[in-house]
Amino acid sequence: MKHIPVLLGAVMDALGDIKDSHVIDATFGAGGYSREFLTAGAFVTAFDRDANVIDDANALDKEFPGRFEFINKPFSSMCELTEKFDAIVFDLGISSMQIDTPERGFSFRFDAPLDMRMSNTGPTVYDMFSVWSVSEITKILKSFGDVGPAAAIAKAIKQEMPRTTFELKNLIHNPKDIAPVFQSLRIAVNDELGEIERALKCVPNLLKPGGRCICVTFHSIEDRFVKSVFREWTTPVGDPRMPVMVSPGFELLRAKTPTSAELESNSRARSAHIRGVVKSY
Ligand SMILES: C[S@@+](CC[C@H](N)C(=O)[O-])C[C@H]1O[C@@H](n2cnc3c(N)ncnc32)[C@H](O)[C@@H]1O
Repeated sequence: MKHIPVLLGAVMDALGDIKDSHVIDATFGAGGYSREFLTAGAFVTAFDRDANVIDDANALDKEFPGRFEFINKPFSSMCELTEKFDAIVFDLGISSMQIDTPERGFSFRFDAPLDMRMSNTGPTVYDMFSVWSVSEITKILKSFGDVGPAAAIAKAIKQEMPRTTFELKNLIHNPKDIAPVFQSLRIAVNDELGEIERALKCVPNLLKPGGRCICVTFHSIEDRFVKSVFREWTTPVGDPRMPVMVSPGFELLRAKTPTSAELESNSRARSAHIRGVVKSY
């Protein structure tokens, strides 16, 4: 299934007028965001670590010649760019194409090898079961999925070494733990939080004065992390009892929530949060 962009209206609203500005789309996916940025007159540099999106990226390049560039790398490699940008947008998580392709092993609805790699390179989740210890798996399930019986499931994983999505699913007794277990293993194997942390560290330096960073998140772990980074960027530095505080480099953007029409037509919008900041120096 083609990915339906989530919170696109809210993202465009938070970006304001982007005609002739240069925008990084950190998470190209099916290109829904990039297309909207290009249509609004922006130049776009897009990242995606999944090579399966290259055909869609090439199609956009043809449609908007000279305005679009695609980089098939993790978005943390934006740190290597030397130009400055007007906006950097992250639409975090996985796309509908990834979750709906059975052999990629993201979904417990289909029986497939336990893969879950966004980039199709490096070790799969199954490979990592030989690397991670019981306590490491427990920590992954707890911190990335808030899984109650994390220790018991981690122990069962190390004992049974499930090779497929269904073998893993069958180790989980309570159906309500299945989605969080799959989510947390996906976050771990793709080092999703590490990627966000590394990329966000470079954002202040990559943005022009007045530039904006917008993040759309899908689960509370990501959202909490983005919120804490943005809070740090927008908090004045110094001793609040002293008359002079160093003003923060960023201001928070008030972002719209999904419209009820969007919530009805796109179930992914229900768990989406949008946060944004503007660089004030
Ligand atoms: C939710 S989808 C983006 C959908 C896109 N906004 C659209 O409108 O089609 C997330 C995409 O980001 C990619 N992605 C996630 N983390 C990434 C990372 N660290 N580096 C590069 N791409 C990443 C995934 O492969 C996926 O294609």
